[in-house]
Amino acid sequence: MKILLLGKNGQVGWELQRSLAPLGELIAPGRDSTEHCGDLVNLAGLAQTVQTLRPDVIVNAAAHTAVDKAESEPELARTLNALAPEVLAQAAQSVGAWLLHYSTDYVFDGDGSTPWREGDATAPLSVYGRTKLEGEQLIRSNCSKHLIFRTSWVYAARGGNFAKTMLRLAKERESLSVIDDQFGAPTGAELLADVSAHALREVMHREHPRADRAGLYHLSASGSTSWHGYAQFVLQAAMDAGVELKAKPHNVLPVPTSSYPTPARRPLNSRLDGALLQSAFGLTLPPWQQGVLRMLSETL
Ligand SMILES: NC(=O)c1ccc[n+]([C@@H]2O[C@H](COP(=O)([O-])OP(=O)(O)OC[C@H]3O[C@@H](n4cnc5c(N)ncnc54)[C@H](OP(=O)(O)O)[C@@H]3O)[C@@H](O)[C@H]2O)c1
Repeated sequence: MKILLLGKNGQVGWELQRSLAPLGELIAPGRDSTEHCGDLVNLAGLAQTVQTLRPDVIVNAAAHTAVDKAESEPELARTLNALAPEVLAQAAQSVGAWLLHYSTDYVFDGDGSTPWREGDATAPLSVYGRTKLEGEQLIRSNCSKHLIFRTSWVYAARGGNFAKTMLRLAKERESLSVIDDQFGAPTGAELLADVSAHALREVMHREHPRADRAGLYHLSASGSTSWHGYAQFVLQAAMDAGVELKAKPHNVLPVPTSSYPTPARRPLNSRLDGALLQSAFGLTLPPWQQGVLRMLSETL
């Protein structure tokens, strides 16, 4: 099997390099690659890459993920999040490849407290959310063999993340103020990459391929918390591991989203219902705390 991976150096892309490797020949052109175009801004180049390589699977982990910056560069965000996925979908369709792509809870407006299901009405609040939604729609209408995984609150052990920032601040300050009215499930890039590899193995199974599993799925860790609850959990885990902190979990002060104005509006309810994915692929999505503890044990 030949796999084309885009966005190999992002949080999810990095983990995909590991999880996809046993599935076949993995080709992952970077943004600056000269051999095969891996730059999502170069739409003709991207199409050419697919036509030249004729992969069995395209995995797109690249995106414009700077949610606030997207508000001031909507055209670039649309190119990366909608037009490039459209080109990949058309190219995948023409060579008969599967396309696996990631989307976001930001396609929803965040009303209520019920976990969102795949069929719920979308109403993005930001350029990022709107362009990611357009990308989903363009993939669904251009490529029959697609898997789109909407996820939320992604973290990885590699590079910076919310937990590491909280730990740094808790060592420097007596107290922290953290938003307590946005709810979601912190989801590890490792989990996303492992589930992606599993799903690809299922739909492309040698004896019993499951093309009927194509579609849009919600994929996040199970359970939910607020950023405030997440921060308290991280600080408690660090203390349990013997890390000295100035700010203790009870020194994490809850504040509303309105006290941190940002260029992009964010949904308050980012909970995603993963039932469809779990039943379609025979998976169990672990509680969010499990992945966060694992990431902390690699970090502390
Ligand atoms: N992070 C989250 O909380 C979150 C939540 C929901 C959904 N998602 C979705 O999950 C997917 C993966 O996100 P992530 O957290 O892994 O994102 P990330 O760490 O920000 O990585 C994004 C990747 O896109 C690449 N990229 C940007 N512009 C590019 C271009 N012109 N050509 C080629 N590559 C380009 C970046 O390359 P460089 O390394 O060269 O900059 C980077 O490797 C995305 O579809 C995102 O929308 C993320």
